[in-house]
Order: sequence, then C-alpha cells, then structure tokens
Amino acid sequence: MPFLSDSLSRVKPSPSIAITTLAGELRAAGRDVIGLSAGEPDFDTPDNIKAAAIKAIEEGKTKYTAPDGIIELKRAICDKFQRDNGLSYTPEQVSVGTGGKQILYNALMATLNPGDEVIIPAPYWVSYPDMVRLAGGTPVIVEGQLETGFKITAEQLEQAITPRTKWLIFNSPSNPTGAGYRADELKALTDVLMRHPQVWVMTDDMYEHLVFGDFTFCTPAEIEPGLYERTLTCNGVSKAYAMTGWRIGYAAGPKELIAAMRKVQSQSTSNPCSISQWATVEALEGPQDYIETSKEAFVRRRDLVVDMLNQIDGVTCPVPDGAFYVYPSIKGLIGRTSPAGTAISDDEAFAKALLAEADVAVVHGAAFGLSPNFRVSYAASDDTLREACRRIQSFCASLR
Ligand SMILES: Cc1ncc(COP(=O)(O)O)c(C=O)c1O
Repeated sequence: MPFLSDSLSRVKPSPSIAITTLAGELRAAGRDVIGLSAGEPDFDTPDNIKAAAIKAIEEGKTKYTAPDGIIELKRAICDKFQRDNGLSYTPEQVSVGTGGKQILYNALMATLNPGDEVIIPAPYWVSYPDMVRLAGGTPVIVEGQLETGFKITAEQLEQAITPRTKWLIFNSPSNPTGAGYRADELKALTDVLMRHPQVWVMTDDMYEHLVFGDFTFCTPAEIEPGLYERTLTCNGVSKAYAMTGWRIGYAAGPKELIAAMRKVQSQSTSNPCSISQWATVEALEGPQDYIETSKEAFVRRRDLVVDMLNQIDGVTCPVPDGAFYVYPSIKGLIGRTSPAGTAISDDEAFAKALLAEADVAVVHGAAFGLSPNFRVSYAASDDTLREACRRIQSFCASLR
C-alpha cells in the first residue's frame, strides 16, 4: 500500500517557488543572483494597515474567529465589491480565507468530483491545474497565443465545453502574461457561458488594481449579470496592498457555495489570522493612495523591462495591460548554445542556463503552459531591473 495519497501523486510542487528557493540558496552561497521569479510587490505594507494590526493585537483581537471571517471584514468586502465592481453581495455571500490561494482551493475542494472538468486558459497561474488535480478534477487547458495577446477566443471556449465542464477559471489581468480582457472580449466569453448553464465561473481578480494606461478592469458578473448566480468572484489584498505575508484572500458568490467553502475551511485552517483580518478591514476601508503610488512605479518598470527585452535579437516582449509580469517569447533563441555549452532546446533550458551563467532567476514558460517563453516579475527596483535586463541582453547575445 503506497504511503502517499494518489491525489498527491498527480501534483507537482510550484515551479516558481522552487526557482525562487534555488536563487536564494545560490545567493546564500555568495553568488550575486538577481531574483525576478517571485510574484510579490517589493514595497512594504502601508503604515496605516500595519497600525491597524498593532491595534488589533493591543485590543486582544487575537482569538479564533468565525471560520470564514469576521463580520466587520465581510461588510468591508461587500462595500468593496459595490464600490469597485457594481456587484451587490450580503455578508453571507462572502468568504475570507488564508490568501487568495486558499479561497480558490476551498471552492475547488467543495465542488469537484472525479471526472469533473475545469477549463483553464493558458498561459495560466502555475497553481490552477495542480489545485484542480488535488481536488480530484481534470484540468482542460485552452491555449491563448502570442498572436491573440495571450487571450482565448469565444470559439475556443465553446469547443472546450463538455457536459462534464464544471468551472471556467478566469484571470485578468493575468499571471504570468499581464494580459487583460477588455469588456467586449469578456462579453464574447460570457455569451458562450450563457449557452451552457452547467458551467460556473471562478474569476481570479487578484490584479484588479494593477492596470495601466487606458485599460479598464472588468469582471464576469459585472459584464453579464445573468452569470451572477454561478460566479465566484475571487480577490485578495496580497498584491494590491503589498500584503503577501498577511495571507488574506476573499470571494463572493452564491450562499450555498460559500457555505460549502466554509465547511472545507472549518476542517482545515479553522479561520484566517484574526490580526490580518483586522488589517484587511483597514486596507479596504482606509486611504487608497498606496494603489496609485505603486501603479506609477509598476508602469515605469514595465516600460523599462519591455523596452530592454525587445532590444534583444530573438526575443519578442508584448506590452502587458496589468499585473507586474512580462512574458517574452524566445522563439528566436531556440536551437542556440550557451557559452558553457548548454543547448537552448526549450524555455526550461534557457531559464536554467540564464541562472547558472548570468545569475538571473526567471520562470520558464512551460510552467505556465505556453512555450517557448519566460516570465519576468518586475516587482523589483528600477536599478535591479536595469541590471537584470543588461545581464539577459548580454547572455542572449552570447548564444551561438
Ligand atoms: C493569479 C493569482 N491568483 C492568486 C494568487 C494567490 O494569492 P495569495 O498570495 O493571496 O494566496 C496569486 C499569487 O501569486 C496569483 O498570481
């Protein structure tokens, strides 16, 4: 009898966490490695949010809470959805979890049976397919291409739907590409979903506030109110307020689904950290100027990185609409050889050689389901990004 579970055998560890850990080890061994593999803002959590956490500790708000969140936070989340997305929810329709990741995981655990299919547009956030597998479902990958701005079309979605399709996981702006669906593009997808009442939408709006230029964020239940009863709108404070370590994510949707997710959470983590919940009340209800300040920095960094990567012969780097990632294609480099003799046969070989020979850590495209590409997280200082792009430029120029 195997000791480890069958469901675990279907899952691989997060590649971005693995590369970030390796970069940390190399740095500890004295190498001057620049890490652009982690998906977290390099800014500190705003002071008003930290102060709210300290106040919560001093006031003794340090005990268990309701499994899926304190009422004060649920009310703040309802206000946020109304204010930012025009969506009306009551606190019973809201779930708070230990990060956006746990929210998505709870929803999949609460709903998937063996054989249930979940449509995941690629390139996707690394965790979606593995979370689906862990919950016993089957990921169905639909590829967006460089030529379509990394977005899927209505026709592709229509073709992927079967009677066993339970969810579409939708993420815009996307990790890893930063691509965002405009209202008309999203409407084309929701029109398809309206014809298939068995399909629910899990929308991961984690990068809602990190959108640039004339791009306007939109979310499925807002674009198609007919989907409200079968949409779980997920979000969190990790990226928007530089709170990755606080571990708070949240979602709103139909009461029955929220109750089922509560059951999963009550038998796993019990409740998200009480102190972080109070800090999140302040994040959502307090001054919002951090969002604009961080956005300015991210636009500047995006432009710097896109510009420097596009100067490389063999690399094509599209301009993303949001988030803090770029996802350049290295099609023109495949088949070359590095100075140390590594054959650049695919994007994984490229990322490994870049780390080994040029001390820059990025994540290879295969991890996100679309190759040959790599993901750069530009949540780093301008100077660090400039130096990293210089190293990538000279590494690519050295390939023969
Ligand atoms: C698209 C997307 N969804 C969810 C998450 C998870 O966020 P959290 O740190 O709140 O669990 C991430 C984090 O990288 C992400 O990129």
